[in-house]
Amino acid sequence: MSAVMSTSKISNAGAQISGKASHAAKVVRLQAPCARIPSIAMPVARSPLVIAAAAATAPAPSASLADQFKPNAVARVPPTQQKQTAIITGASSGLGLNAAKALAATGEWHVVMACRDFLKAEKAAKAIGMPAGSYSILHLDLSSLESVRQFVANFKATGRRLDALICNAAVYLPTAKEPRFTADGFELSVGTNHLGHFLLANLLLDDLKNAPNKQPRCIIVGSITGNTNTLAGNVPPKANLGDLSGLASGVTIANPMMDGKEFDGAKAYKDSKVACMMTVRQMHERFHESTGVTFASLYPGCIAETGLFREHYGIFKTLFPPFQKYVTKGYVSEEEAGRRLAQVISDPKLNKSGAYWSWSSSKGSFENQVSEEVADDAKAAKLWDLSAKLVGLSA
Ligand SMILES: NC(=O)c1ccc[n+]([C@@H]2O[C@H](COP(=O)([O-])OP(=O)(O)OC[C@H]3O[C@@H](n4cnc5c(N)ncnc54)[C@H](OP(=O)(O)O)[C@@H]3O)[C@@H](O)[C@H]2O)c1
Repeated sequence: MSAVMSTSKISNAGAQISGKASHAAKVVRLQAPCARIPSIAMPVARSPLVIAAAAATAPAPSASLADQFKPNAVARVPPTQQKQTAIITGASSGLGLNAAKALAATGEWHVVMACRDFLKAEKAAKAIGMPAGSYSILHLDLSSLESVRQFVANFKATGRRLDALICNAAVYLPTAKEPRFTADGFELSVGTNHLGHFLLANLLLDDLKNAPNKQPRCIIVGSITGNTNTLAGNVPPKANLGDLSGLASGVTIANPMMDGKEFDGAKAYKDSKVACMMTVRQMHERFHESTGVTFASLYPGCIAETGLFREHYGIFKTLFPPFQKYVTKGYVSEEEAGRRLAQVISDPKLNKSGAYWSWSSSKGSFENQVSEEVADDAKAAKLWDLSAKLVGLSA
């Protein structure tokens, strides 16, 4: 234990992560007897959270614990001899967890669960029956750009190949009266769902480009609620990025909404999903030809029982699932939604770059139309430039 605590410090994401660090220390104790052996790479011994993952397979914590899991030890396995690797953000519950399970169950993928709560992710992976060795967990808090950068450094240091990046994590704050903010001062929904993933996807682009897999993919989960060309997308408040003046001023406390208008938690989520879908399209335009990476988005269906609705009113949480099941018929189980996401990650037939995938009971998967705003490439280019500045990728 002392080795864990002394070999590294979490410096990147403030109080929330510091709190998780003590979880990590506990994980060492809790997991030590278990024989979970990730197939190739152990996460780099850089943060206590990562060391905790490694410690799960170590005979006993010792002074040389960090040495046992040095990144160069795993980097010796050539990428072509490693299993395909997918990083899934927010894999500790709902869609991400079920997609992780579906991929891992094929035996052909190693899933890196990129999660902010290490212990929750570990428990969830075990509870859902992910085979030992089919996954590892690396700490990522998308509400901190420093954490995103640290995650990327940690991942690269593992020596693992990267064949698919799935930007899935999200927060939804429909009942919030006041905005909340990320470590960098961005409104929480936009900062987490869009800007955190924007930085992550850009920083991992080279790894995807170099994937031994001939069909590397970057998938950003979209939503029907951001698409005003659908019935669901027309339920107020409607998504609308306006002139992007709020984003231009940093979506800070002075101006938390991307359109520069008054704060609305439900709209902030929908706007963030529009931004996610525009980002995928921009990535396709900018990088598909030069990198060979497929960039796509999807709407997996209404997964009415996931943690996404955790902040909603109780009555909503009770009535929403039956409403989706029996009235709109848009309901999909977490397991089925996970299979759909796994399909977009791995099915050779769903390898079209720039696509937005949906499912229907009669057709199965099909390429859907995006809203006029999502399809506005000039606006998307402006969104790209502003986002790049905010996350520090351009001056
Ligand atoms: N549910 C639906 O009906 C529906 C429909 C369309 C699209 N989607 C999309 O599906 C995706 C997954 O949502 P879900 O329904 O599966 O909800 P969920 O169960 O709440 O999953 C969201 C995940 O995001 C993680 N997360 C939140 N903030 C994070 C942060 N700062 N850093 C890292 N991870 C963070 C959560 O981690 P914790 O476990 O630590 O909280 C959780 O694992 C989202 O992109 C959502 O927009 C959902």
